[in-house]
Amino acid sequence: MRLGILGSGSGSNMQAILDGVADGSLKAEIALVLSDNPQGYILERAQKAGIPTAVIDCRGFKSKFPEESQQETAAALKAAGVNLVCLAGFMRLVKAPLLEAFPDRILNIHPALLPAFPGLQAWRQAIEAGVTETGCTVHYVDGGMDTGPVILQETVPVLPGDDPDTLHARILEAEHRTYPEAIRMALARLGR
Ligand code: GRF
Repeated sequence: MRLGILGSGSGSNMQAILDGVADGSLKAEIALVLSDNPQGYILERAQKAGIPTAVIDCRGFKSKFPEESQQETAAALKAAGVNLVCLAGFMRLVKAPLLEAFPDRILNIHPALLPAFPGLQAWRQAIEAGVTETGCTVHYVDGGMDTGPVILQETVPVLPGDDPDTLHARILEAEHRTYPEAIRMALARLGR
């Protein structure tokens, strides 16, 4: 199975997936890594691993994912023979035509136990809400923001004295365990 990964930032989740492929625990390969951020470290991580990369041209929009950019992204993923698309720290909303090109085959990871705390800086929302536990969620993307059927979640404690950064670091560690496992589950459902 061939994975396509979209990310906007550091790429630590992509790295966790890549490590799973490299150690044989994830029976797949990463065919293409794309970013809307030409400076995203995710691209450097992929290039270091010899994985093809591409920059998504969002026509100068800061947060919108224009339709033609989505068309170009879908075409690049298809050309690379991608079967499953993984959003990993990708900060733009995916809609048609990407959703139509990969129906029920786009995953996302969110740093909270959805449906709690959708949107940005979910770890900060958890601190501000005063909850004693939060976590991360991998779900299918359905065109909403952090909506769509949940595949796998991992719970993370909020410890006394936590600040947003210490909690986010703990959630990220959980993400790096959860995403490869969720991909394994999604691939199994695809019958591979
Ligand atoms: C992090 O905030 C993570 O919690 C969320 O996306 C952001 C970037 O992660 N899933 P990554 O290091 O680029 O994978």
